Amino acid sequence: MAIHIFRRKTLDLIAEDAERSTDTHLKRTLGALDLVSLGIGAIIGTGIFAVIGTAAAGGPSHLGAGPGVMLSFIITAIACGFCALCYAEFAALVPISGSAYTYSYATLGEIVAWIIGWDLIIEYAVGNVAVAIAWAAYFHQLFDGLGVHIPAWLAVDYRSAHQAAAAVAAAGGSVALDLTLPFEAWQTHPTIVGIPVIFNFLAIGIVAAVTWLLVRGIKESSRANNIMVALKLVILLFFIGVGAFYVKPVNWTPFMPNGFAGVWTGASLIFFAFIGFDAISTAAEECKNPGRDMPIGIIGSLVVCTIIYIATAAVLTGIEPWNQLGVADPLAAVFARLGLNWAAGIVSLGAVISMTAVLLVFQLGQPRIFFSMSRDGLLPKYFSRVHPKYQTPHVTTIWTGVAVAAVASVANINEIVELTNIGTLFAFILVCAGIIILRRTDPDRPRVFKTPLVPWVPLMGIAMCLYLMMGLPLITWIRFGVWLVAGMVLYFTYGFWKSHMRTREKGSST
Ligand code: ALA
Repeated sequence: MAIHIFRRKTLDLIAEDAERSTDTHLKRTLGALDLVSLGIGAIIGTGIFAVIGTAAAGGPSHLGAGPGVMLSFIITAIACGFCALCYAEFAALVPISGSAYTYSYATLGEIVAWIIGWDLIIEYAVGNVAVAIAWAAYFHQLFDGLGVHIPAWLAVDYRSAHQAAAAVAAAGGSVALDLTLPFEAWQTHPTIVGIPVIFNFLAIGIVAAVTWLLVRGIKESSRANNIMVALKLVILLFFIGVGAFYVKPVNWTPFMPNGFAGVWTGASLIFFAFIGFDAISTAAEECKNPGRDMPIGIIGSLVVCTIIYIATAAVLTGIEPWNQLGVADPLAAVFARLGLNWAAGIVSLGAVISMTAVLLVFQLGQPRIFFSMSRDGLLPKYFSRVHPKYQTPHVTTIWTGVAVAAVASVANINEIVELTNIGTLFAFILVCAGIIILRRTDPDRPRVFKTPLVPWVPLMGIAMCLYLMMGLPLITWIRFGVWLVAGMVLYFTYGFWKSHMRTREKGSST
């Protein structure tokens, strides 16, 4: 059995399978610019519009980075840069739907591929839960600003509302800024047979809308994404341009109020802002010239976002003292407190648009991983159906939408962000390891894009991801461990027995 769980699907077999299965074949419509745009669409969102405030000011489970959050961004960007170089080699080499899952099937063996596929659910689906929750909060605020009040009990989860009520009671009745919405939900919720009705209806609504768009087709979705990406870049540049006039350099000192520990835990948290450049690789099978376009898409989008993030962090921490930034909407809040309500409104609109784009890319990525796992027999065949008219993996798209919406309606954003980060960092580690192994096991395969300085670049990627994982709280590690164990149980009761590679092995041994 030990040998079988490490059975590998060769790169030739992977390509052959994808080409042959006409009923499970996706359309090739995306070019290099579409991919850079897809990447920026996935990267800029909740991290820069919401998580940055918690990273700078600190939270219940970690110290604040202060203005040193700029350094947190740089540390995380370097870690992602090492990993991006590994992702780019893989994506160009294995231009098949499924991302890190597919790469590891070719290099590290089936069980590792399964672990990565299972782990990627955390990155894509659980990550999207966090984005949907933050989207709902910004959407609520945006409409409030326009004079349309959506009841707060339709925009938060029960637990946040309950925690906010407890925190407000403990503080003697005064409401901290970031608790306003959950506390309002607690005060105004209706009841059904005595049970409080508090759930995130707005999050369900946006996930449903994005799912519908994706079932309709990738080209349509990619066009919608391009428009949103242009808008979000303009709005972040707007924040930097207007905010620069209100920067007081005195706010940048002390630069690291909690020392390097604050910068480190800030980096572990702000990692969320960078997740997404790898999502481009999930669309490799729908890409016209993957060998050239994949590396451009992955590295190009990462570079653009890093520059914008550092500028945003510098302006944000320059406008207000770092310990006042721990609100749900820091970029809008600093403008509102300066009396620039029009600018705050524009930024809120930008946040809603950005997060919609993130949802779109992640909801696009997750079904394609399920799709690949199903095509390999590790999940039921039902999941690799392609829509007869739209040519999209509609079954997995709809199931992903249902699951994300259900969890987003009741989950707490901070816990979800931390879980997403640990799961994604772990997947990155396995991808970096895969590059080193593949160079040894298959050194002669033509590589359109080569990760430089192997094994040092992948080793640095592994070390930095581990470092960021260690900045996350113990409870997150425990949750992640439970998730992995559940995945193992599923593999040994289903995937191991139904794997197409097992059928092939049995066929060749008879
Ligand atoms: N990087 C994505 C975001 O910040 C996940 O929303």
